Amino acid sequence: METEPFPARPARPAPGVGALPAGVALVPTEPGHAPALREALGSVARERRWLAAVEPFSEAETRAFIRINRLAGVPQFVAVAGPLVVGWCDIVRLYPHPGYEHNGRLGMGVVEGWRGRGLGRALIDRALGMAPEAGFERVELEVYGSNTAALALYRAFGFEVEGVKRAMRRLDGRVDDVVCMARRFDPGDGAREAGFRATL
Ligand SMILES: CC(C)(COP(=O)(O)OP(=O)(O)OC[C@H]1O[C@@H](n2cnc3c(N)ncnc32)[C@H](O)[C@@H]1OP(=O)(O)O)[C@@H](O)C(=O)NCCC(=O)NCCS
Repeated sequence: METEPFPARPARPAPGVGALPAGVALVPTEPGHAPALREALGSVARERRWLAAVEPFSEAETRAFIRINRLAGVPQFVAVAGPLVVGWCDIVRLYPHPGYEHNGRLGMGVVEGWRGRGLGRALIDRALGMAPEAGFERVELEVYGSNTAALALYRAFGFEVEGVKRAMRRLDGRVDDVVCMARRFDPGDGAREAGFRATL
């Protein structure tokens, strides 16, 4: 198991949601962001640590992804610094089956060099803030067990561990668990859930 510590982060000048570095703005993702988003995702993917993908999607695929999400009215935001995309967060409707419409899948990333400055916090806060109006009552995600920064961020935003896929990835000599997390939005859910629940 990987034991290498997560790189130390620089001190944050102004902690808290919304304290973005100068020159950075958070905006809804548009098709015009496709080349810069592809660049950003590609740079994080090529780190081969944090995302399942190790290469970016094509520009056409990225544009189609953005268009579909816009049509679906689901949350998708980018952090932009001039022409660059330096972070992203989206919550997509992953499952096409009846009865699954309330489930969203969150994906996000911040480009190396921009981390530890409040962008991740601001991006996830914005995306989760829009989740209920997009019809999501449950938002799930998967994160590698070695990704202590992301795990801390997700816990801080109310995500709970639902399960662990042990040693699911073996890449570059590193063995990693995949941690399944979810955040529930509907406080009345428990009362309604008289149906079948797993008793593990
Ligand atoms: C995880 C990630 C999105 C966090 O974004 P960020 O902009 O660096 O994070 P922020 O500066 O907004 O910090 C938000 C919280 O993340 C956690 N965090 C960030 N950096 C951390 C570090 N080096 N060590 C531990 N926790 C850290 C903390 O909980 C922090 O809150 P706090 O400052 O109140 O303690 C970013 O590190 C990243 O993109 N990593 C690579 C891609 C990735 O992991 N994507 C998610 C895949 S599931």
